[in-house]
Amino acid sequence: MAAAAPPPLPTEPPTTMPETALPRHPVFTRIRLATPSDVPYIHKLMHQMAVFERLTHLFTATESSYSSTLFSPDNKPFHSFTVLILEVSQNPFTDTQFDNDPFYKPLTKVVNLELPIDDPEKENFRTQHGNEVIVAGFVLFFPNYSTFLGKPGFYVEDLFVRESYRRKGFGKMLLTAVAKQAVKMGYGRVEWVVLDWNVNAIKFYEDLGAKILQEWRLCRLTGENLEAYGATD
Ligand SMILES: CC(C)(COP(=O)(O)OP(=O)(O)OC[C@H]1O[C@@H](n2cnc3c(N)ncnc32)[C@H](O)[C@@H]1OP(=O)(O)O)[C@@H](O)C(=O)NCCC(=O)NCCS
Repeated sequence: MAAAAPPPLPTEPPTTMPETALPRHPVFTRIRLATPSDVPYIHKLMHQMAVFERLTHLFTATESSYSSTLFSPDNKPFHSFTVLILEVSQNPFTDTQFDNDPFYKPLTKVVNLELPIDDPEKENFRTQHGNEVIVAGFVLFFPNYSTFLGKPGFYVEDLFVRESYRRKGFGKMLLTAVAKQAVKMGYGRVEWVVLDWNVNAIKFYEDLGAKILQEWRLCRLTGENLEAYGATD
């Protein structure tokens, strides 16, 4: 008589969920050049930046000062003050108005998140670009010059991702967009300053491969002192 087949070995319960079973929440992202119609968002974002940096007492900018200085007809993007806006949407972007921008082809990417984004401020940052397109962050930068390299570079004045959108790779996307543009233009470096208590940003920059130069100090002439120098013969 043939021996009975051995009972099947017990199967181990899976320790991780199969990739396909993970909940996925696609977020469509776009980084594009800001336009004058973005000024209200830019102003709100900059103010949030001032709140974050505990510097609202120094914040005197208005929508009108941004309109006239950031979007003056003489400003040529990347050769003057430049703002890149990060937009996100749960749906693919359907508008095409930025696709043929002569200065900058928008960067788009789909990011798959495990959890949906809960954005309590959505209403304040919804754009007119169809299909629930929300402004999530920005970067403002302009050219400077390195005499040692003999090349221009970019100085990043502000990088900001709204709180609900942090730790999803968006800050990295914005700074990478600036670095890409610098490389494209043959520029020698991208630099910025960070407040010493902003340990999260410092970690973010270090993880991106930036060096924090401890020996340099920021100097600033402003307000009455600037006026006084300006009035000196
Ligand atoms: C700093 C800031 C722009 C980073 O943007 P972000 O979208 O949250 O960053 P990312 O998701 O792209 O982070 C990329 C990597 O940086 C590191 N990082 C980012 N935020 C971090 C934090 N809070 N703590 C530790 N590491 C952090 C991580 O390595 C992260 O990768 P991981 O999430 O896979 O671990 C954003 O936190 C912000 O706007 N903060 C407030 C304003 C500010 O500080 N601006 C900079 C002023 S100098």
